[in-house]
Amino acid sequence: MTASIAQNQNNDTSNSTPNGAIEVKNLSKTYKGQYGQPEKHALNDVSLTIPQGSFFALLGPNGAGKSTFINILAGLVIKTSGQAKIWGYDIEDQMRAARRAIGIVPQELNLDPFFTPRELMEVQAGLYGVPQNKRRTDEILEAVGLADKANSYARTLSGGMRRRLLVAKAMVHSPKILVLDEPTAGVDIELRIQLWDYVRELNRQGTTVLLTTHYLEEAEELCDKVAIINHGRLVACDETKTLLSKMDAKELIVTVAETLNDVPDILRGHGYNVTLTGPNQLSFQYSPSKVEIAKILDLVSQAQLTVADLVTKESDLEDLFLRLTREDNAKIA
Ligand SMILES: Nc1ncnc2c1ncn2[C@@H]1O[C@H](COP(=O)(O)OP(=O)(O)OP(=O)(O)O)[C@@H](O)[C@H]1O
Ligand SMILES: [Mg+2]
Repeated sequence: MTASIAQNQNNDTSNSTPNGAIEVKNLSKTYKGQYGQPEKHALNDVSLTIPQGSFFALLGPNGAGKSTFINILAGLVIKTSGQAKIWGYDIEDQMRAARRAIGIVPQELNLDPFFTPRELMEVQAGLYGVPQNKRRTDEILEAVGLADKANSYARTLSGGMRRRLLVAKAMVHSPKILVLDEPTAGVDIELRIQLWDYVRELNRQGTTVLLTTHYLEEAEELCDKVAIINHGRLVACDETKTLLSKMDAKELIVTVAETLNDVPDILRGHGYNVTLTGPNQLSFQYSPSKVEIAKILDLVSQAQLTVADLVTKESDLEDLFLRLTREDNAKIA
């Protein structure tokens, strides 16, 4: 798909240059316990700025507080304390202007089953006061792969189609900020690629994008900044590249011609971890800042082994995510 996007992008909710597209200070949310359940501190003192124009991932395990964060911005959940601004507008004091600046795709599939995608888009455009000549119903439905379903009842759409319809709905008023809470859960790979192509193009043209996803490779590929929350607290927030470079962990997998029963002694005790991962495969986990790959290869040759194949693996967002959330869980325990 080629994303052709009309020029009436980002309807003007002009505000004097806000610092960040979204600015959140000391945001907390405690859900009251119901039916004898204890109360739940879903967000604890989160402060975060999402820069204008960024492609920002909010990551965290199930129940970390991601949807709570997003639903506060959407006005679906009332914060307990703290402050949140959207495009410089306070979500409570300047609620209308804040709402106009943002388009939100919620995690829950809440669609009226008796509307068709076209009707839903038109109703939404009406709600936001988008004039007829500025409406982009067909363009957006095309982009999310629903053009041929434009006139079918929503109840006849599959789960993945409904999710894509929610994405389309959030784009109707060409918001400056697009927030996507798990937009690709249950969406097949082909359409996921198409959806991201479109969102990436919107971002290129200036739309700020905030997303949550459990597909960490998606976040790594798309997002320039990443925040990780765990148990309602922010445990990391930085450029994706910076976070990954801080990991300082790599893996070298060496396949040798010989058959091994164990790791040769000579390879042990050099400041890295080494394990036998197959009868002729050794895996070295090392910190590039401390151990040079040449030294490892030198030791392999001293062990009288013949290298048949070499693979190095950089650490990825998944490694980082697991490390940070585990460290944080250990602190809490
Ligand atoms: N309406 C509610 N009432 C009480 N507790 C809630 C409510 N909504 C969410 N919670 C709790 O708050 C915590 C955070 O939930 P939230 O939905 O924000 O997590 P999440 O990071 O979006 O998780 P997931 O990855 O599963 O979508 C969870 O422990 C959840 O059970
Ligand atoms: Mg969620």
